[in-house]
Amino acid sequence: MIGFFDSGFGGLTILKEVEKILPDYSYIYLGDNARTPYGNLSQEKIYQYTHQGVDELFRRGANLVVLACNTSSTMALKRLQQEYLPGNHPDKKILGIIIPTAEEMIRAKNIGVFATQATVSSCVYRAEIAKFNPRANVFQQACPALVPIIEVGNFAQLESVVQRYVEELFEKSAEIDTIILGCTHYGIIENIFRMYIPDKIKIVLQGEIVTDKLRKYLNNHPEFRDRLKRAKKKIFLTTGNSPHIQQLAELFYGEKIDLEVVKL
Ligand code: DGL
Repeated sequence: MIGFFDSGFGGLTILKEVEKILPDYSYIYLGDNARTPYGNLSQEKIYQYTHQGVDELFRRGANLVVLACNTSSTMALKRLQQEYLPGNHPDKKILGIIIPTAEEMIRAKNIGVFATQATVSSCVYRAEIAKFNPRANVFQQACPALVPIIEVGNFAQLESVVQRYVEELFEKSAEIDTIILGCTHYGIIENIFRMYIPDKIKIVLQGEIVTDKLRKYLNNHPEFRDRLKRAKKKIFLTTGNSPHIQQLAELFYGEKIDLEVVKL
């Protein structure tokens, strides 16, 4: 199975895109909704929570886990790959979403990044984009208020908050030509960002990027790909148990799902 992990349900929008192009595989999703948002937590806490989530996905049969969360990819991916996988699951893989997104920036000149506080403070996008496009300028805007509002499904409140963040980013540069929505929760409110971002500016969404990278990864690693079940099975897990959790999951995923509540 291919696993997807996020601090909440933002990663469901990524899984949805992946399934369109790779429909035959079996997928298992885990959202740590009980402890979201991760974006304002310490690096150690984000590592610890992501570690527990990945462990659970491996325990339930995933051979490959995509961290469909920029914050976990930033704060936990490298350490999980270097310290946890070799001694515990040398035959399994964990992939992140920052580098695939940075790789897409080869032609951009002035890039705006909206992300969580943890992702922005790490400056990971600046560092990774510089490897592919050293002349690009990267302007960052942390949006700490967004994930808590999105995770309760209170979208009506969002317009003025998004407008403020967009204005703050454009105060840093009026020359921005490309915007990265660098938090998987933001894809679902792309239309609200678009209300305040002129049409001539490209907004990059991570669902298509991750799908493309995953497809290429599986093609380039046939020995690994052939170990993944293609039974079209889907399992959805969450640590959250608020009364509206089912409704929220379906809002992100766009269709009815069987949601199982787990403890990490
Ligand atoms: N979806 C996560 C990301 O991409 C949200 C982070 C959070 O929980 O604050 O960064």
